[in-house]
Amino acid sequence: MADHAWWQRGVIYQVYPRSFQDSNADGIGDLRGILRRVDYLEWLGVTGVWISPIYPSPMADFGYDVCNYTAIDPLFGSLEDFDELLRELHGRDIKVILDFVPNHTSLRHPWFEASRSSRTNARRHWYIWRDPAPDGGPPTNWQSEFGGPAWTFDAPTGQYYYHAYLPEQPDLNWRSPEVRAAMYNVLRFWLKRGVDGFRVDAIHMLIEDESFLDNPPNPAWQPGQSPARRLLRTYTADLAETHVCVAGMRRVLDEYPDRVLIGEAYLPIPRLMLYYGESLSGFQLPFNFHLIGCRWNAPTIASLVREYELALPDGGWPNWVLGNHDKSRVVTRLGGIPQAKLAALLLLSLRGTPTIYNGEEIGMADGEVPADRVQDPWERNVPGLGLGRDPCRTPMLWDEGANAGFTDGTPWLPINPPAAGGSVAAQQADDRSMLSLYRRLIRLRRQEPAIAVGDYREVAVTEDVFVFERSFGARRLWVALNFSASFQHLATLAGAVVLLSTGARSSHSSPQDAARLEPYEGLIAEAPL
Ligand code: GLC
Repeated sequence: MADHAWWQRGVIYQVYPRSFQDSNADGIGDLRGILRRVDYLEWLGVTGVWISPIYPSPMADFGYDVCNYTAIDPLFGSLEDFDELLRELHGRDIKVILDFVPNHTSLRHPWFEASRSSRTNARRHWYIWRDPAPDGGPPTNWQSEFGGPAWTFDAPTGQYYYHAYLPEQPDLNWRSPEVRAAMYNVLRFWLKRGVDGFRVDAIHMLIEDESFLDNPPNPAWQPGQSPARRLLRTYTADLAETHVCVAGMRRVLDEYPDRVLIGEAYLPIPRLMLYYGESLSGFQLPFNFHLIGCRWNAPTIASLVREYELALPDGGWPNWVLGNHDKSRVVTRLGGIPQAKLAALLLLSLRGTPTIYNGEEIGMADGEVPADRVQDPWERNVPGLGLGRDPCRTPMLWDEGANAGFTDGTPWLPINPPAAGGSVAAQQADDRSMLSLYRRLIRLRRQEPAIAVGDYREVAVTEDVFVFERSFGARRLWVALNFSASFQHLATLAGAVVLLSTGARSSHSSPQDAARLEPYEGLIAEAPL
């Protein structure tokens, strides 16, 4: 395994800091809260922690609107707290990945305040300014991802500025060499401090076409979907020049040893692959979100893995994700804990780096957020369509105490009813829990090069069962997944020695008849001879 980098061998864990652990009773998670949970992260066995934005921000989009890229918001703590957290995590051999938000700043960033101050300000061109259309309206029909036009008129200088997201998140102009240089220096600031990498936000939105033509209508749009999707994003997303900027970020990372650049892009597989860059000059891990949206059955998932594996560029390293702070939680999507256990086994046994979203490991479901407690601006702008992301951001359930051990104050989002399997504390004590399964899977991955870095081969696919092989040298392991609610019999599995199972046989390692899979059971076994 020594031939592989930590971000290839390891498991990444996403901390959404607002909801992870509060330390000062303001109801919002913070860095000292994460510090309190460092032992837990070590116990779980993760290799790296990605922390969603902790920079100073007016919090219009909960930190994804940054007004200072090289500081910490007092809500989360201080730079000293951050350095301490970095030391503590590094001391336990856990890497630290920060969120980098290059597409837009906050409206309150001094760069934007300068830019909007006059048409002749030296920073005017750091953002995307355009004259009104002849009728005085927005320059194009471009739509904000969060609803409404993507252009906001700024009366003092008589022009519109562009924002792919909220009006409070003006887009930076990445065609400006000065913007690029400034943003690359932001990366250096954190890399020098010892940060091990970045998850780069909304990368496909980085560049807009200079023709400023209207986006065409999307014939596939259906009522109930996001209003922004009424239009195709022909001139506003996934433009070729983006790759030049990503390569620039990567060159900065490569000035430091052993760092990782991860990109957030929701794109079809062939488009996503381009984000590895020419000769792998781009992201080491362009996030693969395809398990989040796909239909959940054996043939669909087997063909997704096949398509993804085949599409990878030479030397490109795969990765898989089940959820994050923007998507409905996996238990809710799949309809139950047994299904989510199966998903966990899939995530942690496929070839490629897995990313776990905090709470997934205890089977947290989407929380109920009453209308008067809605926080997410997307839900506020476009209510009732289920686009809001509060449900997947409710606080972590640590124990059975008040506010689930998350805060001594009033939590910023309601505390979920206890996860079906209970809190972290309850699940740590239960061998059969989701959490114990995650921990065992992570350990097995560490012990078995076949799973961590081995080859992938499809073995069998039926309507209900998917079996694949992971191998390293002479070691061959089979992963068998029953996607159905009934027992399945698969003769090819007979005689295989089960190492781990999501089902009732979970803690056994003695030879079992692997050929009979329980409902929703997933197992890892030594391949039959
Ligand atoms: C990304 C983030 C999301 C944020 C958006 C705008 O998709 O994950 O939370 O709202 O970018 O920054």
